[in-house]
Amino acid sequence: MVYLTGDIHGPLSVAKFSSRAWPEGKELTRDDYVIILGDFGLVWDDSMECRYWLKWLESKPWTTLFIDGNHENHAMLATYPEREWHGGMVHEIRPHVLHLMRGYVFDIDGKAFLAMGGAYSHDIEYRTEGVSWWPEEVPSDEERLRCEDSLSEHGWSVDYVLTHDAMASATTSLACMGRRIAKMDEYEEWLDTIAANLEYKRWYCGHWHMDVNRERLGLRVLYHDIIRAGE
Ligand SMILES: [Fe+2]
Repeated sequence: MVYLTGDIHGPLSVAKFSSRAWPEGKELTRDDYVIILGDFGLVWDDSMECRYWLKWLESKPWTTLFIDGNHENHAMLATYPEREWHGGMVHEIRPHVLHLMRGYVFDIDGKAFLAMGGAYSHDIEYRTEGVSWWPEEVPSDEERLRCEDSLSEHGWSVDYVLTHDAMASATTSLACMGRRIAKMDEYEEWLDTIAANLEYKRWYCGHWHMDVNRERLGLRVLYHDIIRAGE
């Protein structure tokens, strides 16, 4: 079984996977997957706190997967060993805590999942480069090309799409709901071109800190909710 949820921001909300908060988790095995849609935040620094929570996640009975968000230490993430996993490349953070690298299509539980982390930060003025912000937050041309190549290999058809940000077609209404100023960016517009050309059953994203459906786009935005893939 594959589960999905939104941003956890490291120690801030990782406890939503505790047995008390999520009893369903107790029954899972290593062949069940919990995917976090970016802003994982536990690869942030080498603090005792991050190490403690990574060990705690590793001790859970399932396999944790995540795509990266914008609030991520991308430089540190890149220091972890890379390996092939289920058709794509991952950074192995712990044996059962894996970062799904950008632009690959993974076969997870018999379904094709496109993983494409990253987003622009819109709070950059409050952040410091190399300390709380990294320019690699936005997918590079190379990563976007890899994504397009992977999709070509799959005939531009997957079961599910996993991104951190939403496509531009959704972001104006999401911004209104979240009472943010709508600032569409070129990456969201690029996601729009992907959405226009791709066949998919469901598209899941985080980033917006809300739990909401956009049926017209087949988009489900996740934050607190933990759902099963397909829902
Ligand atoms: Fe976030």
